[in-house]
Amino acid sequence: GRKFFVGGNWKCNGTNEEVKKIVSTLNGAEVPSEDVVEVVVSPPFVFLPVVKSLLRSDFYVAAQNCWVRKGGAFTGEVSAEMLINLDIPWVILGHSERRALLNESNEFVGDKVAYALSQGLKVIACVGETLEQRESGSTLEVVAAQTKAIADQVTNWANVVIAYEPVWAIGTGKVASPAQAQEVHQDLRKWLADNVSAEVSSTTRIIYGGSVNGANCQVLAGQPDVDGFLVGGASLKPEFVDIINSAS
Ligand code: 13P
Repeated sequence: GRKFFVGGNWKCNGTNEEVKKIVSTLNGAEVPSEDVVEVVVSPPFVFLPVVKSLLRSDFYVAAQNCWVRKGGAFTGEVSAEMLINLDIPWVILGHSERRALLNESNEFVGDKVAYALSQGLKVIACVGETLEQRESGSTLEVVAAQTKAIADQVTNWANVVIAYEPVWAIGTGKVASPAQAQEVHQDLRKWLADNVSAEVSSTTRIIYGGSVNGANCQVLAGQPDVDGFLVGGASLKPEFVDIINSAS
């Protein structure tokens, strides 16, 4: 089976004090063991070292981005090599906020995934349609194109988690219904079976993101193709523990 995966994307939030408080809440939480649920939190770059040093050893950290190739004269960027040097195991790539606000194309995201994997990082690769795309009936076409650009560059699927995050559900309080999430997750799994392999399709975690909270996580977690969550706003709150506990 696919191990349940719960990621907390803190985005561009938190002070040094707040970050330590969140970590201390997580450290005191009663959750299922690592064999049952993989928990990964993703603070802003500047807080990665402090979070990594304070966080319990059965939870892991992720960066929210990294540079597309080897580091060098790229002012303001952080390279995959630096993350590896600091023992940061995971990176989130292709988040819709970066696609939309920083013009990251499907190909650019694919290149980042390739480079991050080549350096030994594990990748949470994000895909998802806008409301306009959903309403025009192109959801599957959009997420398939995003997934193809990533899949074309993946060498080791064991190190990839796909996060389906419909843009209209992110930060809006408008969570996808369990049926809406299941439909796209199932389509993505079929896409993997048809375009990669049956084995990759059955083993790759496909997690859902977009207004997940302590109240709606259980029903979503019960969908057969929903293998966990990527949580934004609620990952900064104690209810993140309830979301972790929706694994089982
Ligand atoms: P929210 O949970 O705040 O909707 O954000 C989801 C997200 O973008 C996680 O990457």
